[in-house]
Amino acid sequence: MHQSNTKIGLGLAALGRPEYINIRANDAIDKSKSAFKQNIFSVLDEAYKLGVRYFDTAPSYGKGEAFLQEWQDSKLHDDTILGTKWGYTYVANWELGYAGKHEIKEHSIEKLVEQWQVSKALLPNLKYYQVHSATFESGVLKNEAVLIKLHQIKKETGLKIGITTSGANQKDVIAAALNIQIESESLFDTFQVTYNILEQDTFEVLTAALQNGKQVIIKEALANGRVFPNKSFEHYAKIYQVLEDLSKKYQVGIDAIALRFVIDSLKPTYVLSGASNTKQLNENFEASKIHLSKADISVLQAQKTATISYWKERSAMSWI
Ligand SMILES: NC(=O)c1ccc[n+]([C@@H]2O[C@H](COP(=O)([O-])OP(=O)(O)OC[C@H]3O[C@@H](n4cnc5c(N)ncnc54)[C@H](OP(=O)(O)O)[C@@H]3O)[C@@H](O)[C@H]2O)c1
Repeated sequence: MHQSNTKIGLGLAALGRPEYINIRANDAIDKSKSAFKQNIFSVLDEAYKLGVRYFDTAPSYGKGEAFLQEWQDSKLHDDTILGTKWGYTYVANWELGYAGKHEIKEHSIEKLVEQWQVSKALLPNLKYYQVHSATFESGVLKNEAVLIKLHQIKKETGLKIGITTSGANQKDVIAAALNIQIESESLFDTFQVTYNILEQDTFEVLTAALQNGKQVIIKEALANGRVFPNKSFEHYAKIYQVLEDLSKKYQVGIDAIALRFVIDSLKPTYVLSGASNTKQLNENFEASKIHLSKADISVLQAQKTATISYWKERSAMSWI
C-alpha cells in the first residue's frame, strides 16, 4: 500500500494577481501591486515558518513568479522546492474589473520556449515544471516538438516534468499522459490535479499513479471556497451540515476538514493551500493537527457530486 507522507504546499494563484476565482466579494482589500507584494511576502514567510517547502506558481498568476523569485533571492532558503508551469499568459495587466479572459492558453512550442526562458531563472530551487492545464483539445500531449523539448529540459536540469489538469475528463487526460514515453522513458513524473470532497473522479487513477512512483499535487482542495457554507450554493446544504458537524467534532475549521480529507483519503505527495492571507494559511494548517477516522472519511467520500455538474459550476464562477 502507498504510505501517506503528504505535505502541505502553498499555491500562489490568489496571491500574485488582484483578481481570481472568488465566491465572495473581496473589494475590502487593497489591490495595489505594492499591497499584494507585502501580503505575498508575509504569507511566504509564515508558510516557511509553518514548515511549507513547496511553493507553486505559474506565469499566469500575475506577478506570482516574480514575487516568488524576489522572495527566494532575498531569503536564500536552500531547502525550498519551487514549481511553475507554462502554457497560459496573464493578460489582465492588473486592470481591476478586466472584462475579458484574464489568462490566454497556448500550448505551442514557441510559448514553451518563451516562458521557459523566464521561468528557468527560478533554478536551482525550481524542481517542478508543469504543462498548465493539459487537455486533448490543446493537442499538447501529441505535440512532438513540445514533448521532446520537455524531455530535453528534464535531462539538462533534473526537473520533474508534470501536467496539471482541470475539467470533467481529468482522469482520461492523466491516463493518456501516463502512457507518453520519450526515448523509452516515461516523460511525466508529476500530476497536479483537482480532487476534493465535491469532485473525487480522479481517485482511482491517482492512487494507481502514486503506487507506480509518480508524484501527485492536489489543487482546489477547498473547491475554490465552495466548501464553506454559502447561500449561493444551497444545493450543498446537506454537505455543509456534514462539514459543520465534523468541524465541531475535530475542533478545527471546515477548511482543515476539507484539506485533511484529501490527505487521509488519497495520500498525495502534496496538497496545496490556496490561502490568500496569513490568517487563512494558519487556519488551513490546522489540518496538520488532526487525523480523520475511517468512518468519517467514508462519510465524506459519500458526499461526492457529479463530475459534469461540478465543472459546469466551476467554469461559471466569476473572477473578482
Ligand atoms: N494548475 C491549475 O490549473 C490550477 C488551477 C487552480 C489552482 N491551482 C493551484 O492550486 C492552488 C489552490 O487552488 P485554489 O486557490 O484555486 O483553490 P482552493 O484551495 O480550493 O480555494 C482557495 C480559496 O479558499 C478560500 N479560503 C482558504 N482558506 C480559507 C479560510 N480559512 N477561510 C475562508 N476562506 C478560505 C480563499 O478564498 P478568498 O481568496 O476568496 O478568501 C482561497 O483563495 C492555487 O494557488 C494554485 O497554485 C492550479
